[in-house]
Amino acid sequence: MAKSIKKLFSYAIAALMTCLLAVACTPTNNSTTTTPTNSPTTSGNQNPISIGIAVAQTSNVALLGQEQVIGAKIAEAYFNKKGGINGTPIRLVFQDTAGDEQGAINAFNTLISQDKVVGIVGPTLSQQAFSADPIAERAGVPVIAPSNTAKGIPQIGKYIARVSAPVAVVAPNAIDAALKINPQIKKVAVFFAQNDAFSKSETGTFQETVKQKGLELATVQTFQTTDTDFQSQVTNAINIKPDLIIISGLSADGGNLVKQLRELGYKGLIIGGNGLNTSNLLPVCKALCDGIIIAQAYSPEMKNEINTNFRKLYTEQNKKEPPQFTAQAFTGVQVFVEALSTLDKTTKISTLALPQLRTQLNDTLLTGKYITPLGEISFTPEGEIVQKQFFVAQIKMEPDGNSGKFTFIQ
Ligand code: ALA
Repeated sequence: MAKSIKKLFSYAIAALMTCLLAVACTPTNNSTTTTPTNSPTTSGNQNPISIGIAVAQTSNVALLGQEQVIGAKIAEAYFNKKGGINGTPIRLVFQDTAGDEQGAINAFNTLISQDKVVGIVGPTLSQQAFSADPIAERAGVPVIAPSNTAKGIPQIGKYIARVSAPVAVVAPNAIDAALKINPQIKKVAVFFAQNDAFSKSETGTFQETVKQKGLELATVQTFQTTDTDFQSQVTNAINIKPDLIIISGLSADGGNLVKQLRELGYKGLIIGGNGLNTSNLLPVCKALCDGIIIAQAYSPEMKNEINTNFRKLYTEQNKKEPPQFTAQAFTGVQVFVEALSTLDKTTKISTLALPQLRTQLNDTLLTGKYITPLGEISFTPEGEIVQKQFFVAQIKMEPDGNSGKFTFIQ
């Protein structure tokens, strides 16, 4: 009894920590326009070109969204310093989506109708994209998804593209890496958040890959992204003695789940999906995060000029290596900037009415090739990213559990 009260208490502390980290615990519907902190440095009197950034600045999803805000702001300062759109500066307009569908819908509506942006980078979650993207599609506003990795995102419509490679091409790399570390793996337990579109999509890929590799999919356990107590699912999984556990969820729930798996005695390898791919996870599971394997669509080691510049700007500000969500948000802004510059060279964008500008921007961005921090990327006609390289990292915690980092293992 005393033990379970103690355990409940520790979960409450972990949930509280997560909320504190996430700035606020309750999703808000109020949209906040943030005046960019980096004022354009280009000369001239032209009105800046407004690009919308609709990501989660509050709620638990801000564990991911905070990293995206940083990437977008670095891009704004970087491209304005380079001259913006052939001399015209860009201005990012931020609208907080919080963590739910309604928040994303509100942010998209405001950006489209009130802020009159040329395009939107966002939202953070696939779950939000399936509700908000159709609004942009109907309004003819190009959207670049910076982190939506569920199957079916570009297929929402012709104005929807993404720079976040889908689960089908990223997730299997983590299983390959786990098998390299432990070739004896046979039994696999899979966990996924059943209230989240991305988690459902990613677990499908993980489960298929497990079977393709000839491994035994011994149990599938479900939870909600809002859960903090995973004891019954963890006990079910541990009872079948798995050699590998794979989690598809978001960071607060994912971090608590890892913590409880370790506390209840699981010693094998753990793979976390894309929703756990943030160092904001570390304060949730602390020392118990050690060893989590996570596939990556970005490596700070990418050898090209723009990544060298991006990495330098990020590390100067943040004293650590840039994470994937930051690099992808930077890339989303980059694609808009470069496509606008290309378009402006053939048709002066200042001469176009906003609906035409949005449509021509969409057509232009889909046909471009971009050298980005993610490497060289382009899009299929449908708006799916074509990216060449993927990586896998493993979390390495310091023994005190207070600091840790993502170590690249392939
Ligand atoms: N990759 C996660 C999603 O698509 C964040 O929702």
